[in-house]
Amino acid sequence: MKHFLDELNPVQRAAAQATEGPVMIIAGAGSGKTRVLTYRIAHIMERGTDAFNILALTFTNKAAREMKDRIAKIVGTNEAKNLWMGTFHSVFAKILRFEAAKLGYPSNFTIYDTDDSKSQIKEILKQFNLDEKVYKPSLVLNRISDAKNKLISAQQYIGNSVFQTEDRQSQKPLMGQIYEAYQKEILRQVQWILMIFYTIPIFYCEIFQICF
Ligand SMILES: Nc1ncnc2c1ncn2[C@@H]1O[C@H](COP(=O)(O)OP(=O)(O)OP(=O)(O)O)[C@@H](O)[C@H]1O
Ligand SMILES: [Mg+2]
Repeated sequence: MKHFLDELNPVQRAAAQATEGPVMIIAGAGSGKTRVLTYRIAHIMERGTDAFNILALTFTNKAAREMKDRIAKIVGTNEAKNLWMGTFHSVFAKILRFEAAKLGYPSNFTIYDTDDSKSQIKEILKQFNLDEKVYKPSLVLNRISDAKNKLISAQQYIGNSVFQTEDRQSQKPLMGQIYEAYQKEILRQVQWILMIFYTIPIFYCEIFQICF
């Protein structure tokens, strides 16, 4: 029986078999890149790696489905179903559901989108009697996201003299308190602002111990 790698041309095959270290493939539209990726994953699985240990990120859900289907055709549906394959957002949201408890969150957290987050900030501004024109919600959210990106908690933010000075200079001295109220509110509602782009560094740091 013909081996599946025989269905690749020589350069595709070389790429599929290069399993040690990073490999970058640059090729034109419709020239067989996805085929290389799928066969490479099938090849890695054939050599004994558990599907559960393979992570494949795609830009769209459609691309992920297509790749999974193609891999299933080679290695079987049962084998392919455990692959971590999907978009950046869907895969990480799934991992977070499994691992949420490690961060002190329940696994049934809700993912806030930007509008949800903005409404929450507006609510807090009202409670604090602050002017939305000064504390622009999008700006406040950016500031909070920046802090989260740097793994700075609300308490650390409030205790940080650099942030305090910056916020006083920009006429927004209560930024830290807003951050604190925002975080409290999120936890109170048992919801989690994921805004996954902003939270990924925290996630890596907490779960994989890779901090940046
Ligand atoms: N070596 C090959 N032999 C036969 N068919 C091939 C080979 N490589 C790719 N194909 C076929 O060519 C078509 C395009 O391949 P593929 O989808 O992998 O390309 P791609 O570079 O990912 O395309 P796109 O730019 O659209 O993402 C598919 O039908 C695929 O099965
Ligand atoms: Mg493709």
